[in-house]
Amino acid sequence: MSTCIITGASRGIGKQIAIKMSQTKNIDNFVIVSRNKKALDETYELMNKEKTIKICAVDLENSEMIKEIIKEIAEEFGTIDYLVNCAGYAEPQSLLETSVENWNKTFAVNVTSIFCIIKEVVKIMKKTGGKILNIASTAGSSARPGWLAYAASKAAIISMSQTISAELKEYGIKTYCISPGRCATELRRVLAPNEDPSTIMQPEDVASVVRNLLSDMETCMDGQDIIVRQQ
Ligand SMILES: NC(=O)c1ccc[n+]([C@@H]2O[C@H](COP(=O)([O-])OP(=O)(O)OC[C@H]3O[C@@H](n4cnc5c(N)ncnc54)[C@H](OP(=O)(O)O)[C@@H]3O)[C@@H](O)[C@H]2O)c1
Repeated sequence: MSTCIITGASRGIGKQIAIKMSQTKNIDNFVIVSRNKKALDETYELMNKEKTIKICAVDLENSEMIKEIIKEIAEEFGTIDYLVNCAGYAEPQSLLETSVENWNKTFAVNVTSIFCIIKEVVKIMKKTGGKILNIASTAGSSARPGWLAYAASKAAIISMSQTISAELKEYGIKTYCISPGRCATELRRVLAPNEDPSTIMQPEDVASVVRNLLSDMETCMDGQDIIVRQQ
């Protein structure tokens, strides 16, 4: 029996990952995580009900809660085989407009929560091996004037993924880092309010890439920043 945790599953890319991954054969148990319980219930309704699905409505800024839920998941399912870190936050501001509160909140959700969840999950995953997939952004590898904290936080995810990938190889754990370009979600609407969402990549497209990387067929990628973009 294998288990997959997906954060940010209440909407956007994470929701589509949860729906698509639940159709795959290689995973039996799913844990879907975000703050909004009602929205997670909606994701649940669209997932494959032949799977066991646990809903965890928690704020990932709370590192003690992260410890508690990972302990609970390990007790309930035994192993944790897949972790998808998709939750994200953006409050786009330029250097002179960015407050310390904005900077800290962006790093708390986008970076510190991923560090905390990976650390707790790896304590369990290292016994069996597994796959961790972090969602960064193309904003993490090129200039984004007006989005300082967000872009810097995504660069941190790219760097963290490379180091973690090298550190965790010995346990049979693969770490992937994908960097989507423009994708039609609520977060993108905050970053680019005047854009027509029908003209850009859809969350289902990113979910397909995640499904492929987490399938047993994938053997040759690990650690590097994988750009995901509509052609
Ligand atoms: N859309 C794009 O163009 C794009 C491009 C590159 C990378 N990305 C990245 O892709 C990921 C998904 O983004 P999206 O576009 O799908 O955004 P979205 O629609 O705004 O979804 C963000 C998700 O993160 C969750 N979340 C936010 N703060 C949280 C917290 N404190 N604790 C727990 N969950 C929290 C939200 O759920 P709740 O509100 O229920 O907590 C929601 O499920 C993010 O990491 C984003 O940076 C997006």
